[in-house]
Amino acid sequence: MSVQTILITGASSGIGAALARIYARPGIQLLLWGQNATRLEATAQQCRAAGATVETARFDLTALDELVAQLESADERYPLDLAIFNAGLGGSLTPSDIAQDRRSAERMATVNFTVPVICANLLAGRMAARGHGRIVLVGSVADSFPLPMAPVYVGTKAGLALFAEALDLRVARYGVGVSLVVPGFVDTPMSQGLTEPRPFLISADKAAVIIARRLERGASQIVLPWQFAVIRRLTGLLPRLLIRIVFRIAWRISFAGGRTGK
Ligand SMILES: NC(=O)c1ccc[n+]([C@@H]2O[C@H](COP(=O)([O-])OP(=O)(O)OC[C@H]3O[C@@H](n4cnc5c(N)ncnc54)[C@H](OP(=O)(O)O)[C@@H]3O)[C@@H](O)[C@H]2O)c1
Repeated sequence: MSVQTILITGASSGIGAALARIYARPGIQLLLWGQNATRLEATAQQCRAAGATVETARFDLTALDELVAQLESADERYPLDLAIFNAGLGGSLTPSDIAQDRRSAERMATVNFTVPVICANLLAGRMAARGHGRIVLVGSVADSFPLPMAPVYVGTKAGLALFAEALDLRVARYGVGVSLVVPGFVDTPMSQGLTEPRPFLISADKAAVIIARRLERGASQIVLPWQFAVIRRLTGLLPRLLIRIVFRIAWRISFAGGRTGK
């Protein structure tokens, strides 16, 4: 895959910033999107120092009209070879919360699902007209589990996974690929905010190396680290009812712990 123009959302932090640094080299045009000015500029400076040409855009992705205008303008000026829709919102409910706050649920659903779907859909058509391109969506290993502590999060990631698979099938004949990145635990501000254990934790830099290497080979699904690829395969063989029972029991125990303050 000969990539020259790359868009990365969520480039101001974590996995997105690490991906930007991995791709930064002479001859590469990077378009880096984020909200936090200081952190976005820090990523941009590191990428410029590595020889890339960098343009940043700082805005809230939930402003959907501005989002579409930004994407169309970026793709007009620098026809994109690779677009990585990585920005996301995470976080778990505490056992004492009954449901997620309405505004927070709306924001999470928009950033994690609506935004990447709108962008990938728009770009798929434009890339298909050019006869090449790759779109990358960042999901989560949580997409196959009914996590009672994060129903909105897992719902957005499950929807995104199916969308990625369907879009990939649809646009493959036009020379466009759609890849789904499925991270386990990556050491970023998002996962640092979790109270749950983070098994098989890897750094954002290591995650970026794995993702870039697998994208280079045109992978349509990238589960990382490898331990989660094994777990995903094994749990995929289990009856859904068994998975529900396991999570029901685990949640009851956690709920009881939450009520007694344990
Ligand atoms: N870390 C993990 O363990 C893990 C596991 C599974 C999946 N993932 C997925 O990996 C992706 C990257 O997460 P991360 O771990 O790198 O998290 P992170 O360090 O918290 O970074 C999230 C990025 O998303 C951007 N973002 C969030 N809301 C935005 C909005 N409304 N408008 C514009 N940008 C927005 C943030 O920008 P600002 O900071 O500038 O606001 C930030 O750059 C997410 O899709 C996440 O769901 C992560």
